[in-house]
Amino acid sequence: MELFKKKLIFAPMAGIAESVFRTICKRNGADIVFSEMISADGIYYNGQKTLSLLTFNKQERPIGIQLFGSNAKHIAFAARYIEEHARPDFIDLNCGCPVPKVVKKNGGAALLKDPKLFKDIITKLTKAVSLPVTVKLRSGWKINEWVDTDYAKIAEECGVAAVTLHPRSKTMAFSGNALWERIALLKKTVSIPVIGNGDIITPKDGLDMFSQTGCDSIMIGRGAYGNPWIFQQIKKLAKGDDVAQVSHEDKIKTALIHLKEYKRVYGEKRAAREMKKHLAQYTRGMVNGATVRDTIFRARATAEMEDVLHQAFNLV
Ligand SMILES: Cc1cc2nc3c(=O)[nH]c(=O)nc-3n(C[C@H](O)[C@H](O)[C@H](O)COP(=O)(O)O)c2cc1C
Repeated sequence: MELFKKKLIFAPMAGIAESVFRTICKRNGADIVFSEMISADGIYYNGQKTLSLLTFNKQERPIGIQLFGSNAKHIAFAARYIEEHARPDFIDLNCGCPVPKVVKKNGGAALLKDPKLFKDIITKLTKAVSLPVTVKLRSGWKINEWVDTDYAKIAEECGVAAVTLHPRSKTMAFSGNALWERIALLKKTVSIPVIGNGDIITPKDGLDMFSQTGCDSIMIGRGAYGNPWIFQQIKKLAKGDDVAQVSHEDKIKTALIHLKEYKRVYGEKRAAREMKKHLAQYTRGMVNGATVRDTIFRARATAEMEDVLHQAFNLV
């Protein structure tokens, strides 16, 4: 599918990849964004907090909404609801989340232990909607017990439009290196687009992922956290242009825009709570960064955070 060819994709990241940050990544060169993972059960039971996660703005398109769960009926219901009410560009199934809260209920990476359930879910999900359906996999539950190629083949047979692979086992969580050779193997195994993911931290890593694995598109998660410029930097590097370091001034300017937009969209209370982690990322490596972060973490209101960022701006 053309949508997933040669694209730079911002990864689904719970607690981080909400609408405001997705928009910032888009402005800075991301071609496609994913929502945070959203509970299919939560949509099925009409949970208002879950439903609020379905919101996005036009600038974010193309956007995929990612579902997690293990009940095929609930997942199909949730997908239909999303197609009707949120109208994203595609729907993704999470088949890799290692978080205990998710795997305990057989969702996320736990699906990697149950191919029959996986096939049942994918069959019902693809039948439920006319939107493209994609799947995001880890390579397996345990190291060396890889199921990624078998799962991708099942997905392809069921009409899935593209598959993302984060080539680590569930048991590895985020340790060790992502096994990019498994992305290369997957690319040789299926004909649908393969999106490579894992350990792209620098612009060069992005180009290396394309050349070493032959993948159709790349997905970046942690490398974009506090660093949404990575997408345009990869595009520049691909054209042979110089990639300049982002100045501390530009980092602070983006941090201030992020804070202001976040407050506008979600209100003061949530902004004061949730923006601390983002601001800490933006100020990494900055002169007096530790002092700035210390003040940010102690701040009770966004106005205090703004003040310290303005002070930092005058210092750089
Ligand atoms: C804080 C955090 C939250 C994440 N949330 C999700 C999620 O909601 N859905 C998902 O499929 N993966 C999630 N991931 C995994 C990322 O999408 C990605 O697969 C992983 O971080 C490896 O890519 P990276 O090395 O580019 O970060 C999350 C990762 C992190 C660090």
